[in-house]
Amino acid sequence: MNINGQPARTIWPRVDGNVEIIDQTALPHRLETRLLTTLAEAAEAIFVMRVRGAPLIGATAAYGMALAMRADASDAGLFAAAATLIATRPTAVNLRWAVERMQRVLQPVPVAERAARAWAEAALTCEEDVSLNAAIGQHGVAILQGLARPGQPLRVMTHCNAGWLATVDWGTALAPVYAAQAAGIPLFVWASETRPRNQGASLTAWELGQQGIGHAVIVDNAAGLLMRRGEVDVVIVGADRVAANGDVANKIGTYLKALAAFDNGIPFYVAVPSPTIDWRCPEGAQIPIEERDAAEVTHVLGALDDAVGGVLPCATQTVRVVPAGATAVNPAFDVTPARLVTGIITERGIAAPDALAGLFPDLLTARP
Ligand code: MRU
Repeated sequence: MNINGQPARTIWPRVDGNVEIIDQTALPHRLETRLLTTLAEAAEAIFVMRVRGAPLIGATAAYGMALAMRADASDAGLFAAAATLIATRPTAVNLRWAVERMQRVLQPVPVAERAARAWAEAALTCEEDVSLNAAIGQHGVAILQGLARPGQPLRVMTHCNAGWLATVDWGTALAPVYAAQAAGIPLFVWASETRPRNQGASLTAWELGQQGIGHAVIVDNAAGLLMRRGEVDVVIVGADRVAANGDVANKIGTYLKALAAFDNGIPFYVAVPSPTIDWRCPEGAQIPIEERDAAEVTHVLGALDDAVGGVLPCATQTVRVVPAGATAVNPAFDVTPARLVTGIITERGIAAPDALAGLFPDLLTARP
């Protein structure tokens, strides 16, 4: 997708053998890129969320393995790199998927050839991510076409950031939105801010603005009111892990949106590429939920509004929003039961949650 009208990706290999990323901790206030030259830097970028979103975490982990092979391509090096990366974030299963893929590919390769093979496999992982998400867009646009009303913009609600910034390109939940824009379907997106890290307010709003799609940021708690008022036509979110039974782990607050959508008869779709489906996990209760630092709840980062009139780059400041010393807890994801999900949009088509396996008979051997 575009930044300032120019096509861009979130991660890309450089000719010098390093990897470059958009540092998402600086957005939307500054557009910065960052070099990843070592396994440790790749792991840090995932852990502190310079890169985030399940597919992009997987893509970065693949390049993290490649950077590790450059330093130590032994079996011990391969194992240690996998362990380091897996430990960074627990919920997004694309991380484990990408690391295991790299291990599977590299294990049989002679040590002297592993670094080159790893670089090629990481690049392939990224290209595949782009194709999977583009296909999600093409399947998802049919849903939006079906819901569109003549002369009125289709009102899509999303949560967190499952746009192109969460992937290598296109996004998952927003891929159908971009496909609809290309098809000339008028759209409006409700972007819920997604406390505590505000990925909706900072990232989704930024990328929708870059693509010229009409949108408004809402506080998370406004979603139910908008649905009751009939101001939402469809909800589309991404996921960090879908269990084999169709239960969906996604950013904290997703479950409440699903409940409100269900109560108001609004279709609730989850868009995922197949690496986000964990066939080894029978149901959502077994998905590990990441607990993050309480400081993400107690403090918020923002721009000094008068700095440069909202134009990048602008000065930022972190402020405390709770009484000094207040305790906070910060579960980063929740699980939406399959019964609240209208359908799961994948690269192979759309399925009811309990029929997801029918789309992927070739992947089911990974089941327990
Ligand atoms: O904590 P984050 O920002 O990595 O969480 C991201 C989300 O929850 C996204 O909705 C999910 O990964 C789907 S991204 C295509």
